Amino acid sequence: MKVLSVSSEVFPLIKTGGLADVAGALPIALKRFGIETKTLMPGYPAVMKVIRDPVVRLQFDDLLGAPATVLEAEYEGLDILVLDAPAYYDRAGGPYLDQTGKDYADNWRRFAALSLAAAEIAAGLMPDWRPDLVHAHDWQAAMTPVYMRYYPTPELPTVLTIHNMAFQGQFSADIFPSLRLPPHAFSTESIEYYGHIGFLKGGLQTAHAITTVSPTYADEILTNEFGMGLEGVIASRRDVLHGIVNGIDAEVWNPATDPVVHTHYGVTTLKNREENRKSIAEFFHLHDDGAPIFSIISRLTWQKGMDVIAATSDAIVALGGKLAILGSGDPALEGSLLAAAARHPGRIGVSIGYNEPMSHLMQAGCDAIIIPSRFEPCGLTQLYGLRYGCVPIVARTGGLNDTVIDANHAALAAKVATGIQFSPVTAEGMLQAIRRALHLFADQKVWTQLQKQGMKSDVSWEKSAERYAALYSSLAPKGK
Ligand code: ADP
Ligand code: GLC
Repeated sequence: MKVLSVSSEVFPLIKTGGLADVAGALPIALKRFGIETKTLMPGYPAVMKVIRDPVVRLQFDDLLGAPATVLEAEYEGLDILVLDAPAYYDRAGGPYLDQTGKDYADNWRRFAALSLAAAEIAAGLMPDWRPDLVHAHDWQAAMTPVYMRYYPTPELPTVLTIHNMAFQGQFSADIFPSLRLPPHAFSTESIEYYGHIGFLKGGLQTAHAITTVSPTYADEILTNEFGMGLEGVIASRRDVLHGIVNGIDAEVWNPATDPVVHTHYGVTTLKNREENRKSIAEFFHLHDDGAPIFSIISRLTWQKGMDVIAATSDAIVALGGKLAILGSGDPALEGSLLAAAARHPGRIGVSIGYNEPMSHLMQAGCDAIIIPSRFEPCGLTQLYGLRYGCVPIVARTGGLNDTVIDANHAALAAKVATGIQFSPVTAEGMLQAIRRALHLFADQKVWTQLQKQGMKSDVSWEKSAERYAALYSSLAPKGK
């Protein structure tokens, strides 16, 4: 079966979060099921710089107002279709934000263009290759099924994956004429959303199947609390909604071979982590006194509960914990975490920025990873933590709930526990979890058991890729 995947970020070409990891790893995991994926993504400068020997596959004189070319290239096992449209993507900032941290004013046009190019490929415009199915990710690609709906060509099946309901791509109705859709597309059955335009909303209405990245989040988005205003739309499409938990790329994330990890290890050589721990203590200027180092590797936002970390940092130190924090995001949160580090030299270290190698080393050297998210569609850092023996301490929500087994008495006795879950995400909830972690850490036998159990848990793509493959074949024409 031939699949066109559409994503605004793909690891290792460009990444701002977990979407990139998933869009980069799933096509590789699907190969085993006879699924051949080409991934369409924007030609940001970082992408144009690294692709080698690209082949021109399709040209648009006027893709929503600017010329564009689709280039095909192979990159680390991925078959990439790069949408090279300098007017949209050749910019100095990030994929979505300019250098001052503001959304690009024309994000609607940049990602509608990505989706329109995908729809054109799905319609058979690219010579010698037409997909059997199209899989779009998040709001940036969600207009793909919308455009496809209004095409005269025979309809291909579409899947839309929601990685985060908080980002919906909502824009003023004024942009409607520029989207070049037929007038009836401005309706509640499609992209109209309370008088505005919703890209994710349109995709949810028009895709043949909807998936999200964990079973718990699939249930949660049916509620007011997590549906972010789209719970009604989700409810109306409940029969085509599937929760499929993310896996991880077990080759990129392997403590036995990871090139940035100083001392490699496995389940039977956990002692080797000690050396990595020393490197972390050095990097974050932490005293190496045997007290556990709790790590945080995260976007610094309200979703991720980072305000709760800032509010409890003094108490965590008072209880005997140490914090190594890597992240960037909300400037106010960055400021309060840096202030906490200044108050507690040797006990709290903060590194502001995005640092992929350091994120690996932290998983390999820290004792635990704290993920106090208020909502978390799946979450990947707890999966990396499990694989690396960095015990996850997580809020009981979304994919965190589905992937970490809480160390309660029964789970400990049955030797199945892999981490700590807590709820609610409040200062008290957080500190309760830290107390439990410190108590478990004090008994090294129990802690090692937690680490080992986590390292043995299956966080690979194997089972989930099989579920995607089954979903694809239930939608695609027979025989594909
Ligand atoms: P989200 O996509 O909501 O940010 P996920 O847990 O799904 O959350 O994915 C986050 C990804 O980004 C993980 O691969 C994590 O290791 C990585 N990451 C987050 N912050 C940083 C950072 N400051 N430096 C390096 N990697 C980071
Ligand atoms: C989003 C979610 C995160 C998920 C990731 C990949 O960024 O916030 O929970 O793991 O997408 O699906």
